Amino acid sequence: MTSSTELAVVVLAAGQGTRMRSRIPKILHAVGGRPLVGHVLDTAASLDPSRIVVVVRHERDLVAETITELAPGVVIVDQDEVPGTGRAVEAALGALEGFAGDVLVLSGDVPLLESHTLAELVETHRSGGTAVTLLTARVDEPHGYGRVIRDEVAGVHRIVEQKDATADEAAVTEINVGVYVFRAAPLREHLARVGTANAQGEKYLTDVVALLREAELGVAASVTPDAAAALGVNDRIQLSEAGRTLNARTVQHWQREGVTVIDPATTWIDVTAVLAPDVTLLPNTHVRGATVIAAGATVGPDTSLVDCEVGEDATITRTDATLAVVGPGATVGPFAYLRANARVGVNGKVGTFVEVKNSSIGEGSKVPHLSYIGDTEIGRHVNLGAGAITANYDDITKHRTVIGDEVHSGSHNVFVAPVTIGDGAKTGAGAVIRKDVPAGALALSVAPQRNIEGWVEKNRPGTGAADVAARARGEQEARDGS
Ligand code: UD1
Ligand code: CA
Repeated sequence: MTSSTELAVVVLAAGQGTRMRSRIPKILHAVGGRPLVGHVLDTAASLDPSRIVVVVRHERDLVAETITELAPGVVIVDQDEVPGTGRAVEAALGALEGFAGDVLVLSGDVPLLESHTLAELVETHRSGGTAVTLLTARVDEPHGYGRVIRDEVAGVHRIVEQKDATADEAAVTEINVGVYVFRAAPLREHLARVGTANAQGEKYLTDVVALLREAELGVAASVTPDAAAALGVNDRIQLSEAGRTLNARTVQHWQREGVTVIDPATTWIDVTAVLAPDVTLLPNTHVRGATVIAAGATVGPDTSLVDCEVGEDATITRTDATLAVVGPGATVGPFAYLRANARVGVNGKVGTFVEVKNSSIGEGSKVPHLSYIGDTEIGRHVNLGAGAITANYDDITKHRTVIGDEVHSGSHNVFVAPVTIGDGAKTGAGAVIRKDVPAGALALSVAPQRNIEGWVEKNRPGTGAADVAARARGEQEARDGS
């Protein structure tokens, strides 16, 4: 019978987060590549509630817009100028008129709680039949949190905030996580009675607990075994701690799925990334955004991939890549820079100190050393010599370079776009290619070499160069003479 009770989730996201000292509202700071409130919204949605209401106020438009992007179906409600979590929940209840089920209250700044923890809390609440069931945690350092004050028979009496706590109360190590399941009707009734006579002059949601207790409506608390997941983010120190906790969880998830992570402490994987079995991540690797890595690929060390697609058995070493596609079997790096829409084909190679932007490098083609490739299409089995530069910008606009299949370029070429190199063509060392090269042609743009004998001795007499040149010439003449 109880399981047919409707569930509404209220997410509190109106606070400023003063302790972050940030221009950005606290709940929009990210861990694991997603805003704090995004994690909370995901967990909320996983419970499949009939409604999700998010309360906003600080930086209202920015917050509302982000939330709507993250979770299009939620109802956004504005809190008025009365501060406090109690007032925020009151605003939410305004949007839940006539709702008679259970209300799960979550804080937008407590991002790591897992769906099963919340589902269990709702279950405990329903089987206990109390007016409220709150989630608590036992921690070594309770400073800053509301303390759970229990009476002689261990029932929860009330919650006292840090700033209102006596020394004895502050010594309590059981904290209020900021997550509660309420029956809607008693919550509505007793929240209306909460005032703002406290150290912060705020309407505390936590004060409802004592009121429900006095009214003998039943207050229960469930201690979570996973205290680390229950901690809120109030400052930058806690932000990094939450990031680390989440990352450890994400890394372990992928390890269980068959990914080798050599050094979990320096490997950072966003919650949005997807990795296949037998991927190997070497130390200090960041797999961010919507990056997808296929089986057998090796990434790192010292590599950052943002929104990239990496094919099977590809190898990426000491590389920075954003919005790039690396084909199966391709190798990238060390020290490569792949920018938006860089595409490396099957078994292709982008080598050392090579930057690629908005270009495709065909199957088996190589750009091994010291090159800039921008707005370029390179065919199959091409080899560009060291120092290839595509000059894509003529000071007004960008132009494309098109290089056919099986093209080999000499070292230190400049391709002045727009320019097309035909299939099988070759270019000489140092060439500046300003005109199209027909298929199969050899393009030379550097004047034939002329050696002016004795130039150094004549024009730079007395220098070291002239001295050694004179000696070498003497030795050569002696050899020629003998
Ligand atoms: C709150 C709890 C505290 C608990 C802690 C757990 C209260 C009074 N205290 O304290 O017992 O240990 O969370 O993390 O509830 N918010 C609003 N409107 C407001 C104020 C806050 O929506 O007027 C939102 C914030 O955006 C945030 C959440 O409520 O997401 C918690 O607010 P915060 O100011 O961080 O409360 P704490 O002091 O951490
Ligand atoms: Ca908080």
